[in-house]
Parts: sequence; C-alpha cells; structure tokens
Amino acid sequence: MPKKRVTSGMRPTGSLHLGNLLGALENWVSLQDRYDCYFFIVDWHSLTTPGGCGAVGYENIGELKDNIHEIAIDWISAGLDPEKCSMFIQSLVPEVAELYLILSMVTPLGWLERNPTYREMVKSYAIESPSYGLLGYPTLQSADILLYKGDFVPVGKDQEAHINMTKDLAARFNNLYNRDVFPLTEALLTEVPKVPGIDSVNKKMSKSSGNHISLSLGEEETIKRIKSMFTDPVKIRKDDPGHPDGCVVYAFHKIYNSESLEGIYSECESGKRGCVDCKMQLAAKLNESLRPIREKRKELEKRPEIIADILESGASRARDIARDTLEEVRDAMKLPTRGIFNV
Ligand code: TRP
Repeated sequence: MPKKRVTSGMRPTGSLHLGNLLGALENWVSLQDRYDCYFFIVDWHSLTTPGGCGAVGYENIGELKDNIHEIAIDWISAGLDPEKCSMFIQSLVPEVAELYLILSMVTPLGWLERNPTYREMVKSYAIESPSYGLLGYPTLQSADILLYKGDFVPVGKDQEAHINMTKDLAARFNNLYNRDVFPLTEALLTEVPKVPGIDSVNKKMSKSSGNHISLSLGEEETIKRIKSMFTDPVKIRKDDPGHPDGCVVYAFHKIYNSESLEGIYSECESGKRGCVDCKMQLAAKLNESLRPIREKRKELEKRPEIIADILESGASRARDIARDTLEEVRDAMKLPTRGIFNV
C-alpha cells in the first residue's frame, strides 16, 4: 500500500512562535514518518489581502523573501526533514495556477460568498473593496491540496470550512467529468494545547496581537517576555494567595512543566509561591525545551544555501506530481492536447 498523502500550507508571516510550533509544526513533524507529506509556504495567498490583516499584504511583498526564509528555517529546525517530506514555495510550482483556474469554473459563487472566513476577514479588517482573489481564496487553497491529491490536511479548526469545501469541490469535479481524479480530502483536526498569548489566558497567541514568543528569540529575550507575562492581578505581595487558573504563567507551566503542576498549583494558592520565582522556573523549562531548535537555527542561519536547496528539491518533486495530476485533469475534461490537429 502506498502511503496516504498529507498536504498543508502556512502563510509567510516570518519567524514562527510557540503557538505555531505547538498548534501545527510539531504535528507536521510527527506526520512525516507515516505519510507522504507536502508542506508549502503560500506566497500567493498573501496577495489576497492588504497589509495589516494578520499577514504580509499585497503592497508589502518586498517582505516575502525574508519571511519565507525565516519560516523555512523554523520548519527545518523544529524537525521537518527534507529526506522525509517535501517543502517548497507555492508559486514555484506554477501548475497550481492552472488547477486554480480550472477549479474556479466548478466553484459555485454561493459557496465562496457564504465562506465564514471571507466574511469575517472583510468585516473585521473593514476591507472596502475585497478582491476577486480574496473571494476565491478557498479555491486556491483547494488547488494547493488537490494538485498533490492530498488525502489529509492537518489544520486548525479555523480552516475546517476551507477543507470541507475542498472535499466538495473534489466530489463535484469527479462527478462532472465522470472520473475519480481527486481524493475526497479530509481535515486532520488534532487536539492541540491551547496556547495563550503572554497578555491573557483568554487570548490566542498571535503575531499580529504582539503577544507571542518567537522561536527565534534568544534565551535572555525569552526570560524578558516571560517576566512581562500577565499574572493574577490580586496577588500583589509574594505571600498573597494566588489564582492559578486565570494566570498566563500557570497556563504555560501546564504545557512545559506538567510534572510539577500539582505542587505549583497548591503553592500558589496558599501564598507560598512568588510570581517572580514562578516565572524564572518557567523560563528555564521553556529555554531548555527550545534549545535544540535554536541550536539548529543558528547553524542554518550560517548556511542559507541549505535552505535554498531544500526548497528547490521540494519544488521539483512537487512539480513532477503536479504535471501528472494536470494531465489527468485535462484528459478527464477532454481539453485539447498539444498537437491535436497534427496528422
Ligand atoms: N489558509 C491556510 C491558513 O491561513 C493556509 C493554506 C493555504 C493552506 N493553502 C493551504 C493550509 C492548503 C492547508 C492546505 O492557515
């Protein structure tokens, strides 16, 4: 049995943070042993929105090159292995644009107009004149997945609607052209720890909110970020009793210091634990956990040619599959082939 395919992408937001590591990247790393994996950096998707919408916008594409480089370094430092998976830049497999065009012919406008992420994006960023590309975002995402015949797509809950649309589009295409060209893609929604921002247990860590801890941060800077974490506002003196459940530091101890959790909880509650010590303990744990990733990153920063090679060979593997898929697609649709009128 050939391995099932896994595909997933990230937008080029630059250096990743703990939320990306725990919410996505660690999962990708664990999938690469069991599946045939294709991971890509979706530079074309960043052209769908203006700047300030949580990613590089179409007017700032000068930042893309650095952002792509930073993400690729984080992927590899965190354990994605070019021997086990293919990593590449979306636009360097231009075949995805052809499939996007073809899929856009089978995408009902209503599906796109009802798409919750589109509506939310337009509303929350007050985008005055949303582009045709923004409306078509999930069709481009479907092309990303179906070009490599992705069986499974590891994503967060916020992307579920897009993956369901991918499946519906695949079924619609297969039906219309009477051939099972595409798999009926499923989302792989894995249970991941909720990673709060350093400002509140009720907020998600995100780069656009500025409440993140980047993987690329040094140890001293990490300590500083942890010292600035929001703790219990009614615990003023060291021996005041605390309320760990609303405390960001405790939320991170849950992730990085699970073996000492009970003790931390009761010490805090009974006023035996000061916030400063509590933060320093967390910083030591976090720095220890990130050390191997940071060491790998330092090495890779000195050897940019390694990143270039990995992305190039990933794209080349992806292009081979892409060409085969498109040939099948054109054939199923009975589109003209080159030399059609030659005798
Ligand atoms: N829309 C995804 C996000 O914002 C990124 C993405 C683009 C993607 N193409 C994809 C994810 C294909 C999975 C598969 O996170």
